[in-house]
Amino acid sequence: MYKLALLGLLVGTACQASMIPAAHPRDDHFNTKRNCRNLTVDIDISAVNQVWTFKPPHGNIEVTEFILNYTEPDGNFTEKNSNGNTTKSGSYQIAATYCEPPDGPGKALQILTHGISFSRSYWDHPVHNYNYSYVNAALSRNYSTFFYDRLGVGESSKGDPLNEIQPALEISALQALTTMLRNTSVPGIKTKYETIVHVGHSFGSLLTYAFTNSFPALSDAIALTGFGLDADFATQSLLGDSLIAANSFKKWKSFHDGYLIHNALNSLQVGFFSPENFDVEVLKAAYRSIAPRTIGEVLSQDTVPLQSQFGGPVLVVTGERDAVVCGGNCLATTPSIPKMSKSAFVKKPPFKAFIVPATGHALNFHYTFPTTYGVISDFFDKMV
Ligand SMILES: *[C@@H]1O[C@H](CO)[C@@H](O)[C@H](O)[C@H]1NC(C)=O
Ligand SMILES: *[C@@H]1O[C@H](CO)[C@@H](O)[C@H](O)[C@H]1NC(C)=O
Ligand SMILES: *[C@@H]1O[C@H](CO)[C@@H](O)[C@H](O)[C@H]1NC(C)=O
Ligand SMILES: *[C@@H]1O[C@H](CO)[C@@H](O)[C@H](O)[C@H]1NC(C)=O
Ligand SMILES: *[C@@H]1O[C@H](CO)[C@@H](O)[C@H](O)[C@H]1NC(C)=O
Ligand SMILES: *[C@@H]1O[C@H](CO)[C@@H](O)[C@H](O)[C@H]1NC(C)=O
Ligand SMILES: *[C@@H]1O[C@H](CO)[C@@H](O)[C@H](O)[C@H]1NC(C)=O
Repeated sequence: MYKLALLGLLVGTACQASMIPAAHPRDDHFNTKRNCRNLTVDIDISAVNQVWTFKPPHGNIEVTEFILNYTEPDGNFTEKNSNGNTTKSGSYQIAATYCEPPDGPGKALQILTHGISFSRSYWDHPVHNYNYSYVNAALSRNYSTFFYDRLGVGESSKGDPLNEIQPALEISALQALTTMLRNTSVPGIKTKYETIVHVGHSFGSLLTYAFTNSFPALSDAIALTGFGLDADFATQSLLGDSLIAANSFKKWKSFHDGYLIHNALNSLQVGFFSPENFDVEVLKAAYRSIAPRTIGEVLSQDTVPLQSQFGGPVLVVTGERDAVVCGGNCLATTPSIPKMSKSAFVKKPPFKAFIVPATGHALNFHYTFPTTYGVISDFFDKMV
């Protein structure tokens, strides 16, 4: 996308040599402000996945019928369509980006897990010359960052979207990456970080939450953004997503049945953007970078543990108008849905919830991004 825009710029200014940038602006950005590199990490993982007994829906009509079957109240979808669990193992490649502040490794490493509908570019979006980049904000506060395309998404390995790419296997991927980063066995990252924290967005927060419940010693603190444990709004949110078959679009033509995507820009807006608090150019850029979800992710989201054994500091940051976790109003209940998460942490660790005013589920894409990023950095500065 960016290369095409640059090509247009070069062609358009061909006779005004002085206007042609001396270097690729993207490289400029990378060289002057930070030190980033892309990595491919090989992981061998296994997990106990759910076994689904139906065939993934084929075509858009069947995808809609699947969503209607799944969301039918008292429809017993899981009972009718699953058959216990099985151990799934495999070797996969994870595409990641590692960044250090300009003067060398930061005081801690942040591992960032993106949510559904996006890839790792959610943390470092090129729109408006990276103005909205969470990564740049973290680097400026002297944190290193490791952000990756979740298993099954973006440039990471794909798999069977029904019985393979499920939360349990993705949690196992996060565990493998964290362990390898802790023991410096990721090729290309030599620094041994004493402090490693995790940040999630949305589904990435659910994975971070579930991962740190199972492996509390592997994280020093967590920031869960777009997070709440109340499932009341899951159905309306899923219907609002207006999902169709990813392979009905040319760019995902080769994807298997069972990869699902928003039908249009507006169905991304419904779930992720709050009225009048974002730049339409950013919504459009976010839509251009959307990534399909798997049916296995859709179906297994209600297997999130209700309690966590994690004992380190916990921050929850969610937008006031978050449609996915709060149905569009996080202040409608007392305590708020994000604050309610506190009781899930049975070890009673330090806990803080912050509600970002007038902001929707995709916090990083709203005008309030400096508030969101400031709250997270302040929390880590204080806690680790
Ligand atoms: C890393 O990969 C992303 C996605 O392909 C690309 O947009 C970006 O320019 C690459 N970054 C570096 C530092 O090579
Ligand atoms: C929806 O449910 C009906 C009734 O149980 C079933 O016959 C049909 O195969 C289901 N369709 C999809 C796409 O899940
Ligand atoms: C779901 O299961 C309950 C309890 O077994 C039953 O009463 C109900 O009729 C089932 N619903 C459907 C749509 O099959
Ligand atoms: C299968 O795994 C899910 C999610 O981890 C769990 O809730 C469920 O109890 C398991 N079922 C069986 C039959 O083991
Ligand atoms: C960033 O953190 C590193 C590692 O703790 C430290 O050596 C360095 O002085 C810090 N840089 C700044 C600008 O604070
Ligand atoms: C970049 O972000 C700042 C807030 O940090 C904002 O004031 C400015 O309008 C943004 N510029 C663009 C082009 O988005
Ligand atoms: C580092 O962690 C990985 C992943 O668990 C493991 O395979 C490897 O043996 C570990 N290496 C060292 C040196 O501990």
